[in-house]
Amino acid sequence: MHTRAVGISPYDLAGGPDLLRRLSQKNNLTLLSMNLYPEHGAAPLFRPYLLTRIGGMNVAILGLTGSFINKQMNKGFHILPWQEILPDILGTVEKKADMVILLSSAARRTNEEIARKFKNINIIFQSGQGNGNQAPVNINNTLICRTASRGKYLGVLHINWNRSKTWGENIPDQLKKEQNRLDRINWQIGRMQKRHPASKLESNSQFQRLIKEKNKVEQGLNQLRQQQTNSKKPCRYTNSFIAMKTSLPEDKTIKAIVDKTRREVNQINRKMQRERKKRRETQRQTTTGQVFSVPLQEMAGSQTCQECHQAQVAFYLQTDHARAWQTLVARDQQYNPECLPCHVTLPLYNGKRIHDARLLTSIPPQLHNVGCEACHGPARNHLHDPDIIQPDKPVEITCRGCHTKERDKNFIFSEKILKIRCPAG
Ligand code: HEC
Ligand code: HEC
Ligand code: HEC
Ligand code: HEC
Repeated sequence: MHTRAVGISPYDLAGGPDLLRRLSQKNNLTLLSMNLYPEHGAAPLFRPYLLTRIGGMNVAILGLTGSFINKQMNKGFHILPWQEILPDILGTVEKKADMVILLSSAARRTNEEIARKFKNINIIFQSGQGNGNQAPVNINNTLICRTASRGKYLGVLHINWNRSKTWGENIPDQLKKEQNRLDRINWQIGRMQKRHPASKLESNSQFQRLIKEKNKVEQGLNQLRQQQTNSKKPCRYTNSFIAMKTSLPEDKTIKAIVDKTRREVNQINRKMQRERKKRRETQRQTTTGQVFSVPLQEMAGSQTCQECHQAQVAFYLQTDHARAWQTLVARDQQYNPECLPCHVTLPLYNGKRIHDARLLTSIPPQLHNVGCEACHGPARNHLHDPDIIQPDKPVEITCRGCHTKERDKNFIFSEKILKIRCPAG
């Protein structure tokens, strides 16, 4: 992708700085971090910044590494606070550069603080924090940009940079939007004029509202055009996100690496789960410990329903929900907390799936697969008093908790429900 420079986030250091350096040399990548220092030594581990020419301009690209979430990972090196490093580096580069870009894996709030403090950073590309795409935000003349994590999207920022070094409001974009709005209103007006005689329209409140709105939008458009001719040509940008579609063919080599890594992660989680289980067992000898905290205590497990709901159980066992755990086992992913929320039996809590990795990786076998209670809610109390306390019937949101847009694009509730609805008793 003709990568000029790459920032270093805490996760990139999971294998240590040496491995990272070797990988970057092998792949000819320029890794940047101004605040990553060896445990003993006064020189940073990587280049702090790069001065380069892009589109006839001198551009300074700086790297800032965010702090660790898991302190244990932080071994053999230091990550210095930005306050100690950034002011000096900026002082060095800002005179030499027409534009300053910061690649930062610090938290969003930190980046905003940096933007407020230093007017001369023109763009901050933020990584490793948060999940979604975010349109650029202009804080104190710094654009803070973020693309969804894990390479699901490519963020594309087109910039038109000039001597003013000042980001302007994006007038052309706004103009286009307002012009579209006006076109829509005119179209609606035209349609009404075709359908109704003019005399009727005078007293038609919807029509009058449209006319009013049309005047307002026209005024706004005129103002924008005026601003455009008056302004001292500020710098402009347009931003878009391109989804890295899964429909593209997989690269076999990369896929093999990803699969291998996933299996390794699964092994690590499996081991951790075993160790936790061992610890719990030793604990249980001393206390009459309840293994699971709140959510699971309310669960009964699908096996307990057989006795009274044979028809529904027999039907359920024919559906793929009864094999959802096996699907993960077949791919060595049954300890991956990223997959588990939707392939085990947990109801929605406050409308959400549970993402607690500890709970998920140690879920007991009777709650493997998408069982009865994933749809009908916790049913332990129902077992005690079946005539009085009865489980819920699933509604669309119940399914949507797992059949998300991302995982199941083609989910149409009214159709799919017919496939899995339990028969009447
Ligand atoms: C001891 C018997 C018994 C057991 C065990 C039992 N149920 Fe029930 N269940 C009943 C009875 C009785 C009713 C209400 C009468 C009916 O409509 O069948 C009922 C009703 C239901 C209903 C329908 C509620 C409604 O609004 O119509 C659902 C759903 C349900 N049970 C789910 C489960 C699930 C899930 C389990 C296992 C975790 C389970 N039941 C275990 C006896 C039982
Ligand atoms: C806890 C998560 C979860 C919930 C809740 C859930 N599903 Fe599923 N569903 C899955 C998973 C996972 C699969 C794929 C299972 C596999 O093949 O491993 C699936 C598969 C399906 C299938 C295809 C399987 C078949 O047997 O034809 C249908 C249809 C379906 N779900 C409908 C629904 C509907 C309708 C609801 C709500 C009433 C619902 N699901 C609720 C996770 C869930
Ligand atoms: C947000 C919920 C959710 C998460 C998280 C999730 N899945 Fe699923 N998965 C589903 C649903 C829903 C289906 C069924 C989709 C359909 O029928 O098209 C499914 C289907 C599948 C299937 C296809 C089953 C088949 O053979 O047809 C596989 C394989 C699978 N999931 C693996 C995984 C893996 C591996 C992970 C973790 C990396 C994962 N899933 C995470 C909800 C989820
Ligand atoms: C994927 C979601 C899903 C799963 C899993 C599921 N059910 Fe159901 N169940 C439904 C739906 C949908 C209905 C129909 C609800 C309605 O009538 O609105 C239903 C209805 C029922 C009823 C009421 C039937 C009647 O008399 O009308 C019972 C009892 C029941 N389910 C028991 C179970 C049991 C026991 C299991 C596990 C073995 C199970 N369900 C698993 C979705 C599910």
